[in-house]
Amino acid sequence: MTSPMLEVEGLSVSYGAVRALESVTLGAGAGSTTAVLGANGAGKSSLLRAISGIAPASAGRIRLEGRDVTALTPQARARLGLAHAMEGRRLFKQMTVEENLRLAWSFGARASPLPAALEDVYGRFPVLAEKARAAAGLLSGGQQQMVILSCATIRSPRVLLLDEPSLGLAPIIVRQIYAFITDFARASGATVVIAEQMATVALNVADHGFALRRGRVVLAGTSAELLRGGLAATYL
Ligand SMILES: Nc1ncnc2c1ncn2[C@@H]1O[C@H](COP(=O)(O)OP(=O)(O)OP(=O)(O)O)[C@@H](O)[C@H]1O
Ligand SMILES: [Mg+2]
Repeated sequence: MTSPMLEVEGLSVSYGAVRALESVTLGAGAGSTTAVLGANGAGKSSLLRAISGIAPASAGRIRLEGRDVTALTPQARARLGLAHAMEGRRLFKQMTVEENLRLAWSFGARASPLPAALEDVYGRFPVLAEKARAAAGLLSGGQQQMVILSCATIRSPRVLLLDEPSLGLAPIIVRQIYAFITDFARASGATVVIAEQMATVALNVADHGFALRRGRVVLAGTSAELLRGGLAATYL
C-alpha cells in the first residue's frame, strides 16, 4: 500500500511552559480534504505550524508521502510541495497584488509559466485583475484573502494548509473563498487541510474532520458523521 500523502504521528508542540498540542495523530490521503476544528486556543494553528515547520515539534513525526520531514526547515518542506496560508492575512502589504503573486510563484515548483499562472488567478478572481497594480494592503479583507489563497495555490502545492480562511469575512465572501478551495482541491488532486472555527462551513467541503480541545483530538470522523452528530454544540 502507498503511504498517505500526509502523516502526523504523536505530534506535540509547546511554547515554553504552554502545551499547545498533545500527541496528535492523523493521516490524509492524496486528494482528500480534512477539516481541523476547535475553539479559540484549541491548537489548530499550532498543528498547521508544526506541519509546515514554523513551530518546532517537541515530540512526534511528520511524513510527506512516507518521507520523514520532521527535521527539515520550512523552506525544504515547501520545496517538497507543502504550502501554508497562515492565519491573519500574511502578505506583503506594500507590494502590489501582482508582485505578491509573482514572488509566491518564484518559490514554487513552477508547474506552469508565470503568465499562464497569473491568467489562471485572474480568471478565478477577476477582481484581482482589476487590482493587480494596487498595493495589497489597500484591498478589502476578502480580496486580501483571495490574494493569500492565490499565492498559496500558484505554487501548485501537493499539500495545502489553510488557517481560518473565513476569519472576519462576510458570508458571501466566505462562500466564494470556499468555492475556490473546493475547485482547487478537485482540479489539482492536492491534499488540503483547513483549520476553521466555523465547523459547518469547513465540513461541507471536507471529506473528514476532527476536533481539537486543549491540544488533543476529542472527536474524529467523516464530515457526514460529524455534521450528523451535531458536533458544534458538543465540542466547539
Ligand atoms: N507564540 C505563542 N506563545 C505562547 N503560547 C502560544 C503561542 N501561540 C499559541 N499559544 C498558545 O497555544 C495554545 C494553542 O494555540 P493555537 O494558536 O494553536 O490555537 P488555535 O486553535 O489556532 O486558536 P485560534 O482559533 O484562536 O486561532 C493556546 O493556549 C495559545 O494561547
Ligand atoms: Mg489559530
